[in-house]
Amino acid sequence: MILLPWTRYTWRVRVLADQLERAQAEGGTAWSLASARACARPHCHRSLTGVVCTLGQHMVATRPPTHGTLIPIARPIITEEEIDAVAQVMRSGELVQGLWVAQFEEAFADLCGVRYAVATSSGTTALHLALLAHGIGPGDEVITTAFTFIASTNAIAYVGAEPVFVDINPVSFTLDPDAIEAAITPRTRAVLPVDLYGNPADLVRIQEICNRHGLALIDDASQAHGAATQGKPVGSFGTATFSFYPSKNMTTAEGGMITTDSLPIAEAARKLRHHGTQQTYIHDRIGYNFRLTNMAAAIGIVQLKHLRDFNERRIANAAYLTEKLAGLSTPVVRPGDRHVFHQYTIRLPKERDRFSDDLKARGIETRVYYPLPVHRQPAYAGRGFERVFLPHTDRAAEQVLSLPVHPSLSSEELEYIAATVLELWS
Ligand SMILES: Cc1ncc(COP(=O)(O)O)c(C=O)c1O
Repeated sequence: MILLPWTRYTWRVRVLADQLERAQAEGGTAWSLASARACARPHCHRSLTGVVCTLGQHMVATRPPTHGTLIPIARPIITEEEIDAVAQVMRSGELVQGLWVAQFEEAFADLCGVRYAVATSSGTTALHLALLAHGIGPGDEVITTAFTFIASTNAIAYVGAEPVFVDINPVSFTLDPDAIEAAITPRTRAVLPVDLYGNPADLVRIQEICNRHGLALIDDASQAHGAATQGKPVGSFGTATFSFYPSKNMTTAEGGMITTDSLPIAEAARKLRHHGTQQTYIHDRIGYNFRLTNMAAAIGIVQLKHLRDFNERRIANAAYLTEKLAGLSTPVVRPGDRHVFHQYTIRLPKERDRFSDDLKARGIETRVYYPLPVHRQPAYAGRGFERVFLPHTDRAAEQVLSLPVHPSLSSEELEYIAATVLELWS
């Protein structure tokens, strides 16, 4: 058996000369990349460290440049610029919420084309504060999607309101506007869509429904920094919230943001994030410590400068995958929308989990966002949600698989992902 190490420099046929000689002396063959891909398993397979050929025949290392064991599903881009920015804050001694946070808020409000942005300690606390700022609480209902990260629903639970789940559109994976109106009751106070995978929900229609029924629109845009729908930026519909968790399109390590054009909402959120403070040590109401640090804001200011470039790379990577993966069920972008591909999510009608395992064995990390919709989560058991019928949500949870699409993928890694998906699927 011959085990070749993965090459660090190129995944194109990189034959290691001394091992080649050895293999040839043993009567083996040096294979091109194409033939290695087509090689006749079970004799040959790729291991985490190289191409293993139990017959001693294959002599190619086929994995792209390594940054770890797998091509990861997400990889934040942190450069000396962010490191210097954090060092500058630390040297200033002004560590907690202050000038850097204010500057970050101003720049983020500009991105979204709104008057106010309020930074918070996470995307979850941004959602929590947005609901509180809208006065939503016990006895209120909030119409939302179950096909999301659990934080979207948890925030509704934190304020004591009831989530009312409606189904998604099976193409966009976002809240179906047609299903919203039937779910409105006299207790409904807000609609909370999620711009899942970087794809804006149908915010124009949802806003119109909210306006007609006097409901608040709280858009969970945690995954959609820089996205837009029908010419308007995500973040400018009603009140929106963002997350800056490291896997997101931009990061501050931990952090979040609320955007709004409403001064009362911005003021309420500002107060609540800092213990309901009206003036020093005078507290209007029981608030929280949901502040962002200046270090995090300094990272965010740098990341925001690069967001357009990060997103363009995501969009270009997605376009490449869609072109190469013709025949698979790939993401659909609604005309007039800017989908920023937080995730590149395909649907596999069968054997999704086996396919994911096979990709992992070939050095590609994939993820299922999300395998268990929120209405089926154990944390929400006993609330009658098991009787909620969300067929598109359930089917999506069984079929979706996200492939790496992030901006730090090299072209070789991207080619490798497309070629490997195609090979395994065919
Ligand atoms: C859709 C959605 N909502 C909310 C959150 C919560 O954000 P955070 O992790 O910053 O609290 C996330 C983060 O993963 C998310 O993806």
